Amino acid sequence: MRPVVVTGGTGTLGRSVVRELREAGAEVRVLSRRAGDGHVVGDLTTGAGLDDAIRGVGAIVHCATDTRVPRNDVTGIRNLTEAAHRHGAPRLVYVSIVGVDRVPFPYYRVKHEVEGIVVESGLPWTILRATQFHDLVLTLSRFLARSPVMVVPAGTSVQPVDAAEVAARLAQLALAAPAGWAPEFGGPEVVPFTDLARAYLRARGVRRPVLPVRLPGRVARAYREGGHLTPGHAAGRRTYAEFLADRVGTERTG
Ligand SMILES: NC(=O)c1ccc[n+]([C@@H]2O[C@H](COP(=O)([O-])OP(=O)(O)OC[C@H]3O[C@@H](n4cnc5c(N)ncnc54)[C@H](OP(=O)(O)O)[C@@H]3O)[C@@H](O)[C@H]2O)c1
Repeated sequence: MRPVVVTGGTGTLGRSVVRELREAGAEVRVLSRRAGDGHVVGDLTTGAGLDDAIRGVGAIVHCATDTRVPRNDVTGIRNLTEAAHRHGAPRLVYVSIVGVDRVPFPYYRVKHEVEGIVVESGLPWTILRATQFHDLVLTLSRFLARSPVMVVPAGTSVQPVDAAEVAARLAQLALAAPAGWAPEFGGPEVVPFTDLARAYLRARGVRRPVLPVRLPGRVARAYREGGHLTPGHAAGRRTYAEFLADRVGTERTG
């Protein structure tokens, strides 16, 4: 089996992908801007280090993203696919988000553009779209819970999924033949945001009113309409409540 390179292998999702691949017996390289064990230091935006990262690999799992400057993801995928063509055209497995073609959120538009570049790359490809990770819902909840009233988007549900479960699926896909569009990977249940917010407050033992507010604009409407949900592909098993019990429980005792 040829090595696999994981971009973003230091991130929330990528760390689990690396672990899954190693458990499956694969030799894994992690592309990171920072030095570390098993890392090939490189930068997708500048293209530095990509030749060393990709030389000789059988597959690339592309988990890196720059949420602060999303346009860098377009530069990054171009540099990555060009480097891949210089090194035997390994298969490219890309993780995207359910609804990037339906919700006109700027970050999603970039993800959709990146999907197009993957499809047109001339490399053998697989794209897996997943719903929002539990970690993201928790981060958002922590932020919203800072104010005395926890304001949440009204009429909006989320289908949070465990990043480790998505990682396991990605690792399987990375070790298999290219699949094109893989079936979407959604969390086990669709939950109103108000319930997720209340679950967070309960888990933290914090008393705070939750105020649903109807947000204006096309993006908020697309979320209300569930453009980011995939109830027909509720492949995940671990619920947000289970995740929260582990994570917040650890924080309280840790
Ligand atoms: N979060 C969600 O709810 C969710 C849901 C569905 C799909 N996704 C997708 O899953 C993927 C991973 O998300 P995540 O939340 O795990 O991301 P994350 O924790 O923010 O990690 C981002 C990773 O990207 C790497 N990176 C950023 N800029 C880079 C650059 N210029 N060159 C090389 N590496 C760079 C970082 O590595 P270093 O800092 O080590 O260089 C880091 O490992 C993304 O494509 C995201 O869109 C996320």
